[in-house]
Amino acid sequence: MLIGEKINLRLMERSELNIVQEWENNSLFTGPYEPIQQSTLESQEKLYDERGDNEWFFITQKDGEPIGLVFINPKSGYINIGYAVVEDARGKGVCSEAVRMIVDYLFLRKNIVRIQASINPDNLASEKVLTKNGFTREGVLRQSFYSRGVYRDTVVFSILRDEWKGPYYNW
Ligand SMILES: CC(C)(COP(=O)(O)OP(=O)(O)OC[C@H]1O[C@@H](n2cnc3c(N)ncnc32)[C@H](O)[C@@H]1OP(=O)(O)O)[C@@H](O)C(=O)NCCC(=O)NCCS
Repeated sequence: MLIGEKINLRLMERSELNIVQEWENNSLFTGPYEPIQQSTLESQEKLYDERGDNEWFFITQKDGEPIGLVFINPKSGYINIGYAVVEDARGKGVCSEAVRMIVDYLFLRKNIVRIQASINPDNLASEKVLTKNGFTREGVLRQSFYSRGVYRDTVVFSILRDEWKGPYYNW
């Protein structure tokens, strides 16, 4: 488990995928900027079993209650991250801390020089989470994903190892 100040991060167990399925089937959880999606427990289990080098973390309260997710998705030469927090826990700095922890974890644990996140340009909360954590806006992939009936742009952010301020956490 990775211990933070307000929250902890811990790897999700296969037996907990029902929590993810329930969250992701709820459009209030995925929010207005992400595609609407519906999945069965079976399809979540299949994704989990085929996750390869992907790592799925729960963001938890200090009492262990899951309140969000962070996904780590290694690509050729860099790592992509994604995240979401349950509605009740938003606006309290939860995701900002989760991303700070994940950046430390990835640069401390993996031989990588770049972490990337891709967002909907309207998702200002997500943009804030990234810029607060030292990510730079790099560019726009025009009409690159289909969501809620229209093609939308994706904005790519990244942080390079050289730009990382060094570990914040004393793990
Ligand atoms: C995006 C998301 C993960 C942010 O999580 P969170 O825990 O609420 O984020 P934090 O509280 O750490 O920080 C959010 C920051 O954005 C700001 N913010 C929130 N809503 C905002 C808005 N509409 N416009 C501008 N800034 C906004 C907050 O004030 C805060 O900044 P501050 O720390 O300077 O006050 C959460 O809103 C979420 O789960 N959304 C649905 C899923 C999603 O969109 N995931 C991201 C996909 S790229």
